[in-house]
Amino acid sequence: MRKSPGELRSHRWYGTDGLRAFSHRARTRQLGYLPEEHLGKPVIAILNTWSDINPCHSHLRERAQAVKRGVWQAGGFPLEFPVSTLSETFQKPTPMLYRNLLAMETEELLRSYPVDGAVLMGGCDKSTPALLMGAASMDLPAVFVPAGPMLPGHWRNEVLGSGTDMWKYWDDRRAGLIGDAELAELENGLARSPGHCMTMGTASTLTAAAEALGVTMPGASSIPAVDSGHERMAAASGARIVELVWQDLRLSRILTRDAYEDAVATVLALGGSTNAVIHLIAMAGRSGVELTLDDFDRVARTVPVLANLRPGGRYLMEDFHFAGGLPGFLAQLTDVLHLERPTVAHPTLREQLAGALVHNPDVIRPRGNPLADEGGLAVLRGNLCPDGAVIKHIAADPQLLKHTGPAVVFDDYRAMQATINDPELGITADSVLVLRGSGPLGGPGMPEYGMLPIPDHLLQQGVRDMVRISDARMSGTSYGACVLHIAPESYIGGPLALVRTGDLITLDVQARRLHLELDDAEWERRRAAWQPPPPRFPRGYGALYQEQITQADTGCDFRFLAGRGEVPEPYAG
Ligand code: FES
Ligand code: MG
Repeated sequence: MRKSPGELRSHRWYGTDGLRAFSHRARTRQLGYLPEEHLGKPVIAILNTWSDINPCHSHLRERAQAVKRGVWQAGGFPLEFPVSTLSETFQKPTPMLYRNLLAMETEELLRSYPVDGAVLMGGCDKSTPALLMGAASMDLPAVFVPAGPMLPGHWRNEVLGSGTDMWKYWDDRRAGLIGDAELAELENGLARSPGHCMTMGTASTLTAAAEALGVTMPGASSIPAVDSGHERMAAASGARIVELVWQDLRLSRILTRDAYEDAVATVLALGGSTNAVIHLIAMAGRSGVELTLDDFDRVARTVPVLANLRPGGRYLMEDFHFAGGLPGFLAQLTDVLHLERPTVAHPTLREQLAGALVHNPDVIRPRGNPLADEGGLAVLRGNLCPDGAVIKHIAADPQLLKHTGPAVVFDDYRAMQATINDPELGITADSVLVLRGSGPLGGPGMPEYGMLPIPDHLLQQGVRDMVRISDARMSGTSYGACVLHIAPESYIGGPLALVRTGDLITLDVQARRLHLELDDAEWERRRAAWQPPPPRFPRGYGALYQEQITQADTGCDFRFLAGRGEVPEPYAG
């Protein structure tokens, strides 16, 4: 069933015979449009997260013009809406604090304006889940245009990964292996074009998840931001959304339980970012799909890691693109995917993947030659994390995956920074570094503090990995034996709040266990002595955040935002 122009949502604004519609038409003349340019056509909102401060999205202002070209070509009426930008690099304490704000902005903007369908433009880490969460709750037809990865970094004939190599060379600098001149050259070489991080960090993981969910054009997620193909993909997305509006193919038809399971399998087989766990659980919640940590652990045991991409592997996103991109990659996983579900581009995923090929079997590995036999994440349980924790074990020193050591506890990140290099702390390579006060409320915003620095004296001895545990997240470009997302967090009295320096902690990834050795009586003494910290935000967005935020294991969405639909349509007359 195709919609007629009179059935478009925007018809209520433009097409009726009342004073308001007269005003809306007059104001559209004011914008310089003829009646025949918009009346009876699908209105397509282009939600653009471009900003002068966001280098990952600096090409999106221009790219929105290509989306408009596609919309016009297909007989729609495009309107660009600037929405807030979530810059992983610049926004403090972390853009995670504001993911739900962009999700709210997305949903309410689509609801309150005469919009029939949406093109969502983003890619820097949280912008992908934020846009999709809001759009899923509003449930209009939508296409996601991923910002695309930046070009590979270069320095002195070395290929650099943004993020990953930033950490690595900063450690080299701290160890005295490189000086100021080298550092200045690295500043020029780490990120050499517009686009999001080009490792399999959080950005690439989430845009790949969006493609696996079926909300992008096929192959969209790996196209380098500055490749001409990116502009063509943007134009094709603009043309496609017009057709989706006529078909009334809403996100709720695309974002099903099957689609989320496939997205989980995809991020695990990519060896993707641990952040995807939180975001996919939150996104699924907006679609009315209950996705849990256990789903991730279950799928992780059935899919191998097939993408040889940094930080876990060798290559970068441009290599992945030319090796076949996500279509070639998903073609290796057809036995675990739900192939009969629709995508924005094809009636079924099966048709979307028909003919997809791998052109470089070292970048996209065949099933017989995986990078790792198990998916990229493990979900841990134990008395330190009754509601779960995650570890990206494929990016850790294998010797640390079963380890018992004495805790060295830091109450917050600043205290850790101030004291971690103090030899008096007696930190050895066997110590377990514990950071608390870094969860959704404690951080606040669960900053990417989880890859705690190795103390200087150990770095100089050549130590490059240690067991670190926290209620924080970790950058998707980070690596190491870092246990993350401990729930419940210490700020609300989770067991992490009770650990003391010297306590023995056992990590056993094979057994999926994180355990604090403490007898019951002592546990109870410490629990009785624990005092909750005072609320942090007296007013404003922060006050709403602290009232509504959920813990990591349920996706850190706001309680009142879960689910989709149900909000009444605004009266437009
Ligand atoms: Fe934007 Fe990495 S900083 S994706
Ligand atoms: Mg990141």
